[in-house]
Amino acid sequence: MCKQNSLQENHPPIYNKKLSSEIMAHYEQGDEIRRLFSSLGQLEETRMRELIARHLPATPAVIYDVGGGPGSYACWLAKQGYEVHLVDPVPLHVEQASAASQAQPDHPVAELCIGDARHLDRPEDSVDVVLMLGPLYHLTEQHERIAALRESYRILRKGGIIFAVAISRYASTLHGMIDGNMDPEFIKIASRDLREGQHRNPNEHPRYFTTAFLHRPEEFKSEIEKAGFNLEGLFGIQGPAWLLQNLEEQWADASHRERLLHIARSLENEPSVIGVNAHIMAIARKTKDFA
Ligand SMILES: C[S@@+](CC[C@H](N)C(=O)[O-])C[C@H]1O[C@@H](n2cnc3c(N)ncnc32)[C@H](O)[C@@H]1O
Repeated sequence: MCKQNSLQENHPPIYNKKLSSEIMAHYEQGDEIRRLFSSLGQLEETRMRELIARHLPATPAVIYDVGGGPGSYACWLAKQGYEVHLVDPVPLHVEQASAASQAQPDHPVAELCIGDARHLDRPEDSVDVVLMLGPLYHLTEQHERIAALRESYRILRKGGIIFAVAISRYASTLHGMIDGNMDPEFIKIASRDLREGQHRNPNEHPRYFTTAFLHRPEEFKSEIEKAGFNLEGLFGIQGPAWLLQNLEEQWADASHRERLLHIARSLENEPSVIGVNAHIMAIARKTKDFA
């Protein structure tokens, strides 16, 4: 089901992949739209945007924002003159992204659809850029992640670029340690994260996220390459700043904020510390035809 230039158009559902019920329930609570407003969220968004901007082709170009959520990146890119298509399996996110697009009538998002990263309703070789800033860590089996990456590979034109994001294997443990979180339920969750990368929150504790897979940097690199992409680099998003207990205070001060961003930039491509980031971005290209 798609909304094109904010006009509802009904299409038969073209995908049969289901988001697991707990992931759907997590996002249906509606908190995702506020996530990027906090200092932590702004650090993430600032760094994501600067990494994307550094590698984007010039306009005109077609961008597919797969798992685009409430539309922050889609609207930002549409404002710059790109033809942006957003796909997300959570109807509330597509509604919110549609409202955000309508609030910039001179630069709307071209199309907003309910859909899944593993099956995109788009012909082969027809887009210049794919953003996948979310789906990969909610696909807990490697074959599902490769299927999603292959689907992006299929729709990209030769020479096209993907920005794909993973959560670091160490994120929950580092965050819990800085917070001094000694809750036995959390310690059990974080221990399994470290051991297996499989993050589960069986009691749906509001602070402990939802079903996800947390990558080691080398696993992420190998999955991107297994899907056929030519990896240009793995980049740490936040740097160590996301672990600061006084991040809000430092972020509010322009010179501190610039220092934190400078540190994140200086360390972004350092293999020895990349796992310290909460999020890791792979930037990769389609250099061969889809087979
Ligand atoms: C943490 S949010 C990130 C939203 C946005 N991309 C951002 O970076 O701010 C993760 C998003 O991935 C979406 N998602 C989860 N599983 C997906 C799948 N299999 N296919 C497409 N999107 C998916 C969720 O609905 C959610 O909008």
